[in-house]
Amino acid sequence: MVGFLIFATMKKEIVVSGIRPTGFLHLGNYFGAMRNYVRMQDSYDCYFFVANWHSLTTHPDTKQLQQAVHRVIAENVACGLDPNKVSLYVQSDIPEIAELYLYLNMLAYKGELEKTTTFKDKVRLQPDNINAGLLTYPVLQAADILIQRAVKVPVGKDQEQHLEMARNFAERFNYRYGNVLPLPYAFNYGGELIKILSLDGNGKMSKSENQMNTIYLADDDEQIRKKIMKAKTDQGPATTNSLKPDYIENLFTLLKVVSAEDVVAKFEHDFNASSEGNCIIRYGDLKKQLAADMITFIQPIREQAAAIQNNSQLLKQIMQQGAEKARINAQATLTQVRQAIGMHYY
Ligand code: TYM
Repeated sequence: MVGFLIFATMKKEIVVSGIRPTGFLHLGNYFGAMRNYVRMQDSYDCYFFVANWHSLTTHPDTKQLQQAVHRVIAENVACGLDPNKVSLYVQSDIPEIAELYLYLNMLAYKGELEKTTTFKDKVRLQPDNINAGLLTYPVLQAADILIQRAVKVPVGKDQEQHLEMARNFAERFNYRYGNVLPLPYAFNYGGELIKILSLDGNGKMSKSENQMNTIYLADDDEQIRKKIMKAKTDQGPATTNSLKPDYIENLFTLLKVVSAEDVVAKFEHDFNASSEGNCIIRYGDLKKQLAADMITFIQPIREQAAAIQNNSQLLKQIMQQGAEKARINAQATLTQVRQAIGMHYY
């Protein structure tokens, strides 16, 4: 009994998160997701994966997909993930996800799927390819999470609705078949989920849209400098201690991560002390400082990611090792799921 209690208290909470291989990773992916992955790897039982099945919903050129999958693995490791601490794998290496997806599809309703924000966006963006995979995208995402029995899912703000749907599907499963699936919650250190805006202030940073206003982890020094120096600002606050417009807040968010505390404090002070006719904050200086610190931050990630991406032996080892661990855990869930449904006939 004592042994069981010690084991039970030692067991770490399970964490899952995924990234689609649909383009180069950017600061939104880093601050919304990967930075949390790295912080969580010591305290949680972590499963992080490349969501290659999800990316098929937009019909990419599958010849380029292999390179994109390798790139996501390489960039995650370059950002600080240790493949010996976490399980880092490719979604299609875990066929158990597809079986759970099938069961969950019977518990997901057409009306709620059609109302999902990401589905409505895609209907607008690709009216000629509104396939069933796109409609059931949140169901597959729920299967990714529930198959590992995750309770925390580090994601950016844009994934909040998908997490709510994953909880709904899990609750419906548990109600119908018995209590098998823990309920997962979106997670960010500090509570609030993050949304990094595009540098022109229009929408969020994204892998495929608005590339001139998105900073990628693969950008070279000059690209980083150019993009930041063009970022949207204005003539300064009208009154002291004003609320920051979202595009200015976004620059401060980035500054807080890559610059020294006293640098951030100086610009915060200058902003708060500024008013119409007495503009103390110099956005040109802020952007110069941000560009210099961002270059220092991204350079080693870019270089290490490129080195890992060229090391096919290492990539293979990481993906195989990750999939092996993830499959064992997934199989345990699927056994319970099948038992709960009553799927054993001989
Ligand atoms: P994806 O590939 O679009 O993005 C990967 C992660 O990056 C976060 N993110 C952002 N965070 C803040 N600001 C931004 N501008 C920004 N852009 C992207 C996303 O929130 C995400 O955490 N559907 C998912 C992939 C997925 C998944 C899962 C995630 C599939 N199965 C299971 C978690 C759990 C997606 O398309 O992420």
